[in-house]
Amino acid sequence: MHKFITLISGRGSNLAAMCKAGLAPYISCVISNNPNAKGIEIAKKNNIPVCIVNHRDFISRENFEQAISLVIDNFPSQLIVLAGFMRILSPWFIEKYPQKIINIHPSILPAFTGANAQQQAFDAKVKTTGATVHFVTEKLDHGPIIASGAMAINHDNDDVDTLCNKILKLEHILYPFVIKKILNDQVKVLANGAVEVIKDIADDKILGKFKSNIHY
Ligand code: GAR
Repeated sequence: MHKFITLISGRGSNLAAMCKAGLAPYISCVISNNPNAKGIEIAKKNNIPVCIVNHRDFISRENFEQAISLVIDNFPSQLIVLAGFMRILSPWFIEKYPQKIINIHPSILPAFTGANAQQQAFDAKVKTTGATVHFVTEKLDHGPIIASGAMAINHDNDDVDTLCNKILKLEHILYPFVIKKILNDQVKVLANGAVEVIKDIADDKILGKFKSNIHY
């Protein structure tokens, strides 16, 4: 399998889920823009090299991204995985790695883009929300969709915290699943911009109880 780089800013629960799914040996480096990110400890515990590139140490976004890209280019990687990375990436950076950057977002895109997607879904009183893994393009949360997971909101019993936790559980299955698909060359972007994910007999077992929630 190919290797990948993960960019984080905080808690790192998606990074932990990748490690739990057996992906730690394939993460060549974790880059954090936040020196206090909890995810740094998770990377260290899993023997993954960590590089802190604090955006506050740079006078411009361009300089910050150049520093990140220097790190990226020094490690083997076929893929750049954003896992709670809370900096907007410039067109320069995105164009440097075409169809190589993926993100997970806590809604069924294209609904509820931007910050606090779970709160947005809750406030909109929708009955279904979820999480989406997509390729990163210049337009925030709008790149080609690889896979989405859906789950019901129970407006009688859920609050935003319970909703965030439910979505996070889905994310923790969805993201490692998609990453493995890409590393195994089972994801293709078609000429019309749609993404084809090749199915496998092992998929249902990997997705477990989420198999009917996840669409790809
Ligand atoms: C996750 O819920 C992820 O979907 C979200 O940040 C959280 C990171 O959690 N990302 C976005 O909202 C991106 N627009 P983690 O640090 O525990 O993985």
